[in-house]
Amino acid sequence: MSGDALCNALCRRLGIRVPIFGLAHRIEVAAAISRAGGLGVYAAARDGPDELAGKLKALRALCPDRPVGVDLLLPTALPEHSSAEAVAAAVPEGHRQWVQALAERHAVPPATRGNFFSMYVRSQALFNEQVEAAVASGVEVFAAGVGTPPAVLARAKAAGQHTIALVGHPRHAQKAIAAGADILVAQGYDAGGHTGPIGTYTLVPQIVAAAGGRPVIAAGGIGCGAQVAAALALGAQGAWLGTLWLGTREHELPAALQAKLIAAASDDTVITRAHSGKPCRVVRSAFSDAWDEVGAPDPLPMPYQQALTGALLAAVEEHEVAPLLYEAAGQSVAWLQQIEPVASVMDRLLRETRQALESMRPYLA
Ligand SMILES: Cc1cc2nc3c(=O)[nH]c(=O)nc-3n(C[C@H](O)[C@H](O)[C@H](O)COP(=O)(O)O)c2cc1C
Repeated sequence: MSGDALCNALCRRLGIRVPIFGLAHRIEVAAAISRAGGLGVYAAARDGPDELAGKLKALRALCPDRPVGVDLLLPTALPEHSSAEAVAAAVPEGHRQWVQALAERHAVPPATRGNFFSMYVRSQALFNEQVEAAVASGVEVFAAGVGTPPAVLARAKAAGQHTIALVGHPRHAQKAIAAGADILVAQGYDAGGHTGPIGTYTLVPQIVAAAGGRPVIAAGGIGCGAQVAAALALGAQGAWLGTLWLGTREHELPAALQAKLIAAASDDTVITRAHSGKPCRVVRSAFSDAWDEVGAPDPLPMPYQQALTGALLAAVEEHEVAPLLYEAAGQSVAWLQQIEPVASVMDRLLRETRQALESMRPYLA
């Protein structure tokens, strides 16, 4: 489908032109990545089941003739059903008072509308409804971000979807393969979002070795084409990026958060359990700093942490309370230096990848 040398076996299998994979919480971004020849994957974990079907329909409308994907977080250790009230009732009063004091310290007005974090509680029942919508949507690729329930991957495959699992440890690779993953994303410590302890450079060849010939895509800390070329040299068949898209025109964000991301260097990201209860790399903010202060409580496990902080974070987003605004972001944030269209990011990545590959030619002479 393309004379481009970057169009490798994985690209041909998925019907894309270049091995750049992008995960984003905006359908406009996912669609633009696919239109530019890569594979855009819409991260749907923050959508209620009611919204999700409509979002995926709109994604298809934005990108009618190119493959696109959908990604869900499916941690298996959560309760079957969780009512928001029951989870909220289990939040310790001391934690609640501490979060209230944090809101007062930053003069955060109450939220007048909810967002995912204040309206939903993660549970198997919620996941089942999200999976229904994702599998019925007709999008070509189904990605499992955290957790690989075999029954879910089997459903996606039965619906004709390619299945991708994100893994952060060789042990997880075995589990994902046994669960039916067709393709693995080796996501290293450098990555934005929920992440494990092994660096991308160390992880990728281990996942390639564990994958039994299945394609592997490298993720975590990738912000320039030299790293895409390095990923190919490590045995991966593509690069999967999350953070860079936060700096695109198609990705609506509060201006103060955009400025924070543009200013951030790699070491301005931190791993915290304060976001969801599981270790998650985010751009540093007064929110993550507060949880590190002496006397701060320990973050609660998922889903209780979200029940504890959801209303505050919804208010911070609604009123754009700059010091507390944050987003998941990887060490790749160093390459997020301006707001530009997705197509420009794709052009730069591909140009740099080709330059990096070309620069290695003398080593073969
Ligand atoms: C803002 C943001 C949100 C993310 N949300 C998800 C998610 O919902 N599901 C998922 O599988 N991965 C998620 N990730 C991780 C990405 O899939 C990807 O592995 C990671 O961003 C790669 O590293 P990078 O951030 O350095 O590009 C998220 C990453 C970011 C930056």
